[in-house]
Amino acid sequence: MRGVTDLLAEPRIRIDDRLNGSAGGDIAAEVREGLTKAPLKELPPKLFYDARGSELFDRITQLPEYYPTRCERSILNRRAPEIVEIAGAEELIELGSGSASKTRALLFAMAGAGALRRYVPVDVSAAPVERCADELSELYPGIEVHGLIGDFNRDLVHLPDGERRLFAFLGGTIGNLYPDERIEFLGALRELMGADDRLLLGTDLVKDAAVLEAAYDDGEGVTAEFNRNALRVVNRELGADFLVERFEHRAFFDERRSWIEMRLHSLDDVVVDVPGAEIEVAFEAGEEIRTEISAKFTPAGVDRELSQAGLRLEEFWTDDGGLFALSLSAPAR
Ligand code: SAH
Ligand code: TRP
Repeated sequence: MRGVTDLLAEPRIRIDDRLNGSAGGDIAAEVREGLTKAPLKELPPKLFYDARGSELFDRITQLPEYYPTRCERSILNRRAPEIVEIAGAEELIELGSGSASKTRALLFAMAGAGALRRYVPVDVSAAPVERCADELSELYPGIEVHGLIGDFNRDLVHLPDGERRLFAFLGGTIGNLYPDERIEFLGALRELMGADDRLLLGTDLVKDAAVLEAAYDDGEGVTAEFNRNALRVVNRELGADFLVERFEHRAFFDERRSWIEMRLHSLDDVVVDVPGAEIEVAFEAGEEIRTEISAKFTPAGVDRELSQAGLRLEEFWTDDGGLFALSLSAPAR
């Protein structure tokens, strides 16, 4: 028989690092590909999220202009018991979990239903995964926390097996993928899901361009710092010599493609050396790098993308202002 001491000695936290400390796998190849693109240079958005980037993002979520976090939190706080009842989940797998501050409502509801067994935060940024694993296993001593430091576009195959799992993909992060990447991502996730698993998806909704643009270009300049952080990461990881302050933050709503586009605008004619990617990159003054998109959805668009991936929409909730949506879906039979 196992005694209490055995139970206490059992590791309740496990961190699986698929990236081995590099900022998202083979960043040299991705940066080389992005910065040699014409006519518009690009950088992969996961570059934002080193430890400093994750901290800056947490500051963004508290800005008055950045409504998505507040709206999604209010939906989650109101609907968590219902979500947990419909999903009947024993395990929460959260993709791009970050500091997981909104997730606590879900874990609380699962624990209240007596069902919480395991929490699996997945993120490219190691620091918040480690921090929230510590905090949550202290808050819920009975649960197992299995953190996965990895890329949700690539490393989902390393998720632990399980049943009755609730996959949460919050914060509108799905909107940071391009339409073809979303199809691929949702399809791969659907493949992984068993009949009793559910997907809880946070999506930002189409609205007035001025409201959208303010959310991605705040008065304090935190978002600008966050955007420029991608260049700091390239400097550090690949030995590049970007003069970070000579790139200005830009954010605009592209109505035709229904996404916010974030860019960095070079103030100078300059050649940047990126030895780690074996390239030199020439910029003309005024030339821009696209760093991230953030797609804005209609309710019908969310339904359509889920259906295309073989997922059936079960519930669709918004906040009182109708700014942000949460949907719950299941594998279609
Ligand atoms: N879920 C949180 C954080 C959203 S920000 C919220 O709703 O507030 C996006 C998160 O996704 C960040 O924590 C970032 O580190 C992570 N992320 C970005 N690209 C990723 C990728 N390719 N794989 C895994 N995590 C990624
Ligand atoms: N998933 C978040 C979003 O699209 C990420 C984000 C918020 C972001 N603010 C940002 C990305 C500013 C780049 C710059 O809303």
